[in-house]
Amino acid sequence: MIEVKVTRLKREAEGILGVELQAADGARLAGFEPGAHIDVYLADGLTRQYSLCNDASETNRYCLGVGLAAVSRGGSHYLHMSLREGDALTISEPRTLFRLSRDATCHRFIAGGIGITPILSMIRWCVRHSIPWQLHYCVRSRMCAAYLDELSAFSDCVHVHANDEWGGQAADIQTLVSDVKMGEHIYCCGPAGLMDAVSRHGQQSGIPRENLHFERFTAPPTQISDNSDRPFTVVLAKQGLRCAVKPTESILESLERQGVSPPFSCREGLCRSCEVEVLSGEVEHRDYVLSEEEQVAGKSLMICVSRAKSDELVIDL
Ligand code: FES
Repeated sequence: MIEVKVTRLKREAEGILGVELQAADGARLAGFEPGAHIDVYLADGLTRQYSLCNDASETNRYCLGVGLAAVSRGGSHYLHMSLREGDALTISEPRTLFRLSRDATCHRFIAGGIGITPILSMIRWCVRHSIPWQLHYCVRSRMCAAYLDELSAFSDCVHVHANDEWGGQAADIQTLVSDVKMGEHIYCCGPAGLMDAVSRHGQQSGIPRENLHFERFTAPPTQISDNSDRPFTVVLAKQGLRCAVKPTESILESLERQGVSPPFSCREGLCRSCEVEVLSGEVEHRDYVLSEEEQVAGKSLMICVSRAKSDELVIDL
């Protein structure tokens, strides 16, 4: 955990708060990769993930963009309404689940709203290393588009689609991915509908799955709980414990109920911090972070959301 202080707050666009953090003791901060995010630990045990949007070569600060969620579960509302310059916060080291591919010959970014934040640090890296890129930035209106001033310096590469300039029409994703070249990778962060459309049209256009990259910060509500689940037993190999997992609880909740406290953060299958190795048994993966190949391999699972298909699952805990 890192203790930081809020050194700058700035309204970046309608509903988007820019937050600059520096180490509380003035020390250098850990480096990060473009696309990385940090956990921010808030009161009442709330943990929220926010992407870093500044230049990844900077070690004196982390910059976040916080979108005010339409239905806030506490995190974004608190940061927008109560955070002040000079406040102290506790954060995690940066983690990277959304990274630029070294194999790509060029990068195509598709950002929806606050999804611009991880992509902005990727763009800064591309500019610094003279890697070809283009951005399609999809917003309701330019009033809601953060960092437009900075992006205007790259007008040849930046295409803004503001729905209100097209009679309320959202961007045509099929067209956005129809001319992707061999070796070009697509990176998408934004609302679930946008990411689903990019995934669907990207695959229909013949883009290999490994060339499509997504960053999710919220799980679709229907995936968070499912009343049709069946019970199973999870065996903790190292601790020699057997725990019954009820249909209404996750493995993580079952372990907590029995006094075991494995690490976790998002509890929605988005951050990978609860990942545990599977020693035997068949997994029903419900996370958003493992690749298709990793899910098929079944060597690990996110215990906050994934379940067992078999009656028993032995895990390395
Ligand atoms: S706690 Fe984030 S994936 Fe499980």
